Amino acid sequence: MEEKSYQLAAVIPAAGSGSRLGAGMSKGLVPLAGRPLLWWAVTSLFTAENLVVLVVAAREEERETIRRVLEESLPRPLPVAVVPGGAERTDSVRHGLEWLAAWEGWWPGIRHLVAIHDAARPFLPRELWERLLTTALEEGAAVPGLPIVETVKRVDAEGKIAATVDRQGLWRVQTPQIFGFEDLLAAYRRAAELGLTATDDAQIYEWTGRPVRVIPGVWKNIKITTREDLALAEAILRGREENV
Ligand code: CTP
Ligand code: MG
Repeated sequence: MEEKSYQLAAVIPAAGSGSRLGAGMSKGLVPLAGRPLLWWAVTSLFTAENLVVLVVAAREEERETIRRVLEESLPRPLPVAVVPGGAERTDSVRHGLEWLAAWEGWWPGIRHLVAIHDAARPFLPRELWERLLTTALEEGAAVPGLPIVETVKRVDAEGKIAATVDRQGLWRVQTPQIFGFEDLLAAYRRAAELGLTATDDAQIYEWTGRPVRVIPGVWKNIKITTREDLALAEAILRGREENV
């Protein structure tokens, strides 16, 4: 068997309220083709062989349901933890990282990576996941992103254009985002001390001044935010069936 040169952990924040979707539950539990979105997200992460531990942040009242979804989606046995979510995504991820900080399964003397992945992204392609891992191993941190193709406006509270933003160099980033575990943990602890929150993990890590490589993501790796996204996800699945 090939010697493992690193261990990979995954943290899935799944403790949101899904307010823009309006399903009355967190998005990880919203069904897509009969399976909860979290099932899809977990299943797609498991193509990584060196994934050794999974931590999911959940709302208190959904903890048991999330546990059951995990039991159904794990294709092989590995340590799994469900930790309490927090008020902001940043808090939920931090709870996951702190659980990992106390985890005794890390092997000394090899690299420890952590991938943070939204529960609301059901279609992570294996090919993208592999590219991200390779890049993170080479460069320390990697996130997928897509260059913005439309014209970008800043719009004021009255719905009027306040400015046109030069889109040159603007990307929208996706998950999974991969970092060195100890570096990301330290960055999160520092952010907590300063009371800072962010909408993605790279932003927290960026504050340490370390570089983050952005690699081309794929359009299909969508985040389900609204009803339209859910309809789009269903259409993607139908297309998949028709093509086989
Ligand atoms: N999330 C979390 N804890 C929070 C907020 C969000 O774990 N306090 C998770 C969500 O469950 C989701 C991911 O972070 O998997 C991305 O967040 P987002 O798409 O904003 O989901 P929600 O916050 O649930 O949705 P909304 O903003 O529409 O309420
Ligand atoms: Mg949110």
